[in-house]
Amino acid sequence: MRKIYIFDTTLRDGEQSPGVNLNVHEKVEIGLQLEKLGIDRIEAGFPAASAGDLESVAAVAQAVRNATIVALARSNEKDIDAAREALKQSQDACLHIFLATSPIHRQHKLRMSKEQVLETAEAAIKYGRRYFDKLEFSLEDAGRTELDFICQVTDMAIRAGATVVNLPDTVGYLSPFEYGNIFKTVKETVPDAYKIQLSAHCHDDLGMATVNALAAIMGGADQVEGTINGIGERAGNTALEEVALALETRSEFFGAKTSLVLNEIARTSRLVSKLTGMVVPGNKAIVGANAFAHESGIHQDGMLKEKTTYEIMTPETIGLKESKLVLGKHSGRHAFREKLIDLGYSLSDEQVNAAFKKFKDLADKKKDVVDEDLRVIVEEKLITTPEVYVLDA
Ligand code: KIV
Ligand code: ZN
Repeated sequence: MRKIYIFDTTLRDGEQSPGVNLNVHEKVEIGLQLEKLGIDRIEAGFPAASAGDLESVAAVAQAVRNATIVALARSNEKDIDAAREALKQSQDACLHIFLATSPIHRQHKLRMSKEQVLETAEAAIKYGRRYFDKLEFSLEDAGRTELDFICQVTDMAIRAGATVVNLPDTVGYLSPFEYGNIFKTVKETVPDAYKIQLSAHCHDDLGMATVNALAAIMGGADQVEGTINGIGERAGNTALEEVALALETRSEFFGAKTSLVLNEIARTSRLVSKLTGMVVPGNKAIVGANAFAHESGIHQDGMLKEKTTYEIMTPETIGLKESKLVLGKHSGRHAFREKLIDLGYSLSDEQVNAAFKKFKDLADKKKDVVDEDLRVIVEEKLITTPEVYVLDA
């Protein structure tokens, strides 16, 4: 099965989420957890951005020994020198240089012709390769770049010495079909493309960051970039936990897997949420609080009979203890009875029916019916129907 390399940019693109600012200790703590998660490449920051970021990248590079540590640089010597300084203690370093290639960026931001883009990028890659064995070059806004120019820049980057070429959908604009096709075309057209790794980097502006990354894999991408919980600029980046679980759960379809330690996912998600202050929405795939929770009676009944009726992956896979059956107005008698048994009550059918009716009345008025509510319902009944046997309440 083909291995997909995972490049985590929680500490760089993820930290670019408005309102997020990680100090050096927090970056190291996340870096060490990413190492436990088995991330192949960790982008620790953008050293030329600030003295603090340079210090953080250096600290992560010193602390994390079992992953490649990556530092970002624009296509100029000053940025590359800052990355060199930050990565000098690293055991396994990679320089990541980028330059925009799309007509919109060439015309309005860079004010460069295609030739100038090619020359500037080539000079930067050659300079970077004097100091780094591993070098990734990103064609910023590749998603809106002419396909023949993407091939031309990729070809130049390989000849200049890039070991990974990244083709980002910087503004989350493409459909999966279009994005996958870029990788397929580059693989088929650029003569030495098979000698290097091609990387996918997607943003979620139209909610397609994960599916686009998967389409890139199908088109031939070797590496996927993203963040934990999908945090990042604007609507965020590809959520790495989603890609990892999609490949794991549908391996027969994708024919590719990551080497992540999947049962570290829940812990990593919680840590990133705590330190960035970015709350994970309840319905977020894989790591949201409701991802393994069931409320409707029909689903709960199915779950109690056979978990695969309503779960395509197990909570244990990502390091959670168990699925949750949440009692609410849609819940049925089966889950209600099981919950009472969990709470230590053993009731006759008649008593369950009476308590269930009270529970439904309450659930109509209250969003979450918690254990304490159930105890009150059962124990009120206990006073009027003393034959209720309380196991250990
Ligand atoms: O989205 C993007 O294009 C980036 C590059 C710097 C890789 O984050
Ligand atoms: Zn990005």
